[in-house]
Amino acid sequence: MSKPRLWITRKLSQNTEIRAQRDYDVVLNPDDTLSTADDIVRMSAEVDAILPCHSEHFDAATVERLDPRVKIIANHSVGVDHCDLDALKKQGICVTNTPDVLSDATAEIAMLLLLGAARRAAEGDSMVRSGRWNTWSPSFMVGTQVTGKRLGIVGMGRVGQVMARRARGFDMQVHYYNRTQLPEALEQGAIFHSSLESLLPVSDFLSLHCPATEQTKGLINSDALMQLPDGAILVNTARGALVDEAALIRAIDSGKLAAAGLDCFVTEPGGNPEFATHENIVMLPHIGSATLETRDAMGFRALDNLDAFFSGGVPTDKLV
Ligand code: DGY
Repeated sequence: MSKPRLWITRKLSQNTEIRAQRDYDVVLNPDDTLSTADDIVRMSAEVDAILPCHSEHFDAATVERLDPRVKIIANHSVGVDHCDLDALKKQGICVTNTPDVLSDATAEIAMLLLLGAARRAAEGDSMVRSGRWNTWSPSFMVGTQVTGKRLGIVGMGRVGQVMARRARGFDMQVHYYNRTQLPEALEQGAIFHSSLESLLPVSDFLSLHCPATEQTKGLINSDALMQLPDGAILVNTARGALVDEAALIRAIDSGKLAAAGLDCFVTEPGGNPEFATHENIVMLPHIGSATLETRDAMGFRALDNLDAFFSGGVPTDKLV
């Protein structure tokens, strides 16, 4: 029997590509170029499956033009806001994602940003690096202590739960807002809030770990930021769309927020040039899951889903 033909849209880990080539007739992208909607539509007529990343957009207009040959979109990401799931379901295309395997890596980056924002890491690094470090005194570069503070987690899914565990290592008191309260064994002492309004005033640090959906877009707007304690710090490793970026700038400029740590932006790649003028905003280019171990695990998870699909089973991470 001939192998299913698979298009892997971006350059993935070597181990992933080797395994994919063993089991599929693979079209790779060694130059790691970005595909347009037209590329996606063209390729859909040439393959049975696509393994994309969040950089490829399957919006309703693109999905409508997909060739019926393509049967499954096996995402190399946990977030699927780049996919119009309703449109894909309507076309009878199976969609999967890669949950679980990136929780540790993403929580590491959230912790890095939390600590970096609190202790002025971007400002300090830039000062030393540029040769501008010419003084020291007890009043120099004073930041916000993390130990013992209250951490509010929005979205207590897999990444949120790992973040809570890491925060406990800093003796933080963990509060969370989630659609449903977790069982006690998973809560591990974290305090449940049934609304965002209840969580915000107790969040010295607020870390976002929920997906971007129609309901959560712009969740952290001016109103929400104003409900945080004065001098709070916002961390976003989930999706840029969760935050009203203009409102965030205003909250930083007014001193309402002491700092922010961001791995995600409304515009990616690129980010928000206005943020770059603020040294108290620590920024990374969407690298929450970018570790060797996690890239292999994400690739393998996507391939596991494809294997299940093409052997007639139901992929573990089937969304539609
Ligand atoms: C994810 O998996 O959603 C990460 O943001 C990387 O795409």
